[in-house]
Amino acid sequence: MIKVGVVGASGYTGLELIKMLLNHPEFELSYLATTSGESMIEQLHTSLSGVVSMRVEKADPDAVVKHCELVFLALPHQASMGFAKEIIDKGVKVVDLSADYRLDVDTYEKTYCKHEDKNHLNDAVYALIEYYREDLKKAKLAAGPGCYPTATLLGILPFIPYIDTSAPLFIDAKSGVSGAGKKLSDMTHFVTINDNIFAYNPLKHRHAPEIAEKIEKVHGAKMNVNFVPHLIPATRGELISVYATLKQDIDPLEVLKERYAHERFIRIRENPVDVKSTAGTHFCDIFAAKNGNALFVNSAIDNLMRGASSQALAAANLMCGFDEGMGIPLVAYVP
Ligand SMILES: NC(=O)c1ccc[n+]([C@@H]2O[C@H](COP(=O)([O-])OP(=O)(O)OC[C@H]3O[C@@H](n4cnc5c(N)ncnc54)[C@H](OP(=O)(O)O)[C@@H]3O)[C@@H](O)[C@H]2O)c1
Repeated sequence: MIKVGVVGASGYTGLELIKMLLNHPEFELSYLATTSGESMIEQLHTSLSGVVSMRVEKADPDAVVKHCELVFLALPHQASMGFAKEIIDKGVKVVDLSADYRLDVDTYEKTYCKHEDKNHLNDAVYALIEYYREDLKKAKLAAGPGCYPTATLLGILPFIPYIDTSAPLFIDAKSGVSGAGKKLSDMTHFVTINDNIFAYNPLKHRHAPEIAEKIEKVHGAKMNVNFVPHLIPATRGELISVYATLKQDIDPLEVLKERYAHERFIRIRENPVDVKSTAGTHFCDIFAAKNGNALFVNSAIDNLMRGASSQALAAANLMCGFDEGMGIPLVAYVP
């Protein structure tokens, strides 16, 4: 068994990781930590009561090196790199869920803050599994993609060779409230979001530069990415609608079927997708249609799973030489 830890165990993505790791046949959960520490995991997450009893420590890089061969960092950006830079060179594999190792340094510093661990940035592999699988098998540091970029990129990347990349790309995104993490804000307050739906950070959200950078990396196309996220009154789930202009005649579903023919966690749908069918799973469901030269691409994921924790676990599986789907649930929380 490989000893693994979760730092950020009190958060939403931390909980999803713990749930999967408890049933993982090759990983042994050996270290849990938060900023404050000194608690029991079943007290932090009462849903784990009667399932597991395990001490939660105050996060400490030396303890990670002592107890773990691989660690998941489910921390906010900036906190993550402060922690990761202390352990990467000490033989512990790191899977980071934050934005800290996802982007080139220029994009990162324009979008987030000054980067404090440039030494390791070039070693990080972007953990969008279907596009970076072979690199992940050799990686010591994996950078979990953002939730919106995961759903958007899995949907749109197969179409980049067929669309007019000089035209603006419009991405309409909708997310459940857990996408914002557990910290309460005015926007995520029950009274604000219940019976409601609204856009936030239109055209200025931090995931737009990530989407643009990865389209350029995979296909060499610099695109004007216009991204508008909306918050919806749901706990989890993300639905993406992308609008683009085709430059040649294609059958959109055939393009998807061909690109993902051998991908077991991508489901090509014959009809528009919904978030509930992916809830609690690693699946990304994708549908596409056209009207003349107008292309519509529609994708759905669970933001806490494929958008964060199950993608992180798939990356960890690959980094340790296991089947990428090991320990990851397949059946959605339906109804
Ligand atoms: N939620 C999503 O759908 C999603 C999707 C993709 C990626 N992500 C990324 O995954 C990471 C975790 O997200 P989340 O939704 O799980 O967040 P969360 O629910 O807010 O949990 C954050 C965790 O980080 C710890 N923490 C907060 N500030 C810290 C600091 N300064 N130093 C060390 N630990 C700190 C918290 O510990 P305490 O309890 O002690 O404060 C908590 O355990 C974030 O970087 C987020 O952007 C999230």
